[in-house]
Amino acid sequence: MATFTHPMRLRLLRALALAALAVALATAPARAQDDGRHPVSGRFFANTMSAAGASWLDRPEREDEEAPKKAIALLGLKPGDVVADVGAGSGYFALKMAELVGPTGRVYAADIQQEMLDIIKSKLGYTPVKNVTLVLGAEDNPKLPPNTLDMALMVDVYHELHEPQAVLTHLREALKPGGRLILLEYRAEDPKVPIQTLHKMSVQVAKLEIEHEGFVLAKVLNDLPWQHLLIFTRP
Ligand SMILES: C[S@@+](CC[C@H](N)C(=O)[O-])C[C@H]1O[C@@H](n2cnc3c(N)ncnc32)[C@H](O)[C@@H]1O
Repeated sequence: MATFTHPMRLRLLRALALAALAVALATAPARAQDDGRHPVSGRFFANTMSAAGASWLDRPEREDEEAPKKAIALLGLKPGDVVADVGAGSGYFALKMAELVGPTGRVYAADIQQEMLDIIKSKLGYTPVKNVTLVLGAEDNPKLPPNTLDMALMVDVYHELHEPQAVLTHLREALKPGGRLILLEYRAEDPKVPIQTLHKMSVQVAKLEIEHEGFVLAKVLNDLPWQHLLIFTRP
């Protein structure tokens, strides 16, 4: 039987993970808007990642590749905050945020795929966490309560939205005045980030599209290996 040195094993795991992602993207449900473009920037929308590939989101090497723990620390959450993880997937970020906001806070984990919410529900069964609300949204509406959120987070989601302008309108309504909309997106400016171009976003395009919907880009953090963290505020 072949044995692998540590770096070889890491490379193999990474190749397998990227192959799993490619399958998930290829098997995502087809939709009429799949060849759609953003009306303001002309950017092509990416396909939705299918729940069939959800294990890629929980891959053990994600911490080494993307440093999500550091990303969550950069969010600056505090006990009592009410936040939404929009496009929560398997709940990787939602569950970690639930611990930080504590029993006086709340996390709305929203997704358009019931299968993703089912994965989160089953994970919640193994934890003492009681402050996560699962929300099945629609393509154009995350269905979050109005004037409630201190922060809405989208991790690797915005580039997949097929109705980004409608989603942003609803998020603006769901955020409290001064609330933050935070995007984590793979850096389009960096060719070394090993992700398909369609699944990356540049700061320039994100700013153009999101400020067009009434948000203001307050800060860009480049402290993560593959992604930038874009912090917008709702005036
Ligand atoms: C690449 S996954 C990222 C999951 C999770 N944020 C993470 O990083 O672990 C993208 C997720 O966004 C969801 N999604 C796509 N379009 C959406 C929309 N319009 N509203 C809410 N969720 C959406 C998909 O169903 C999928 O679960």
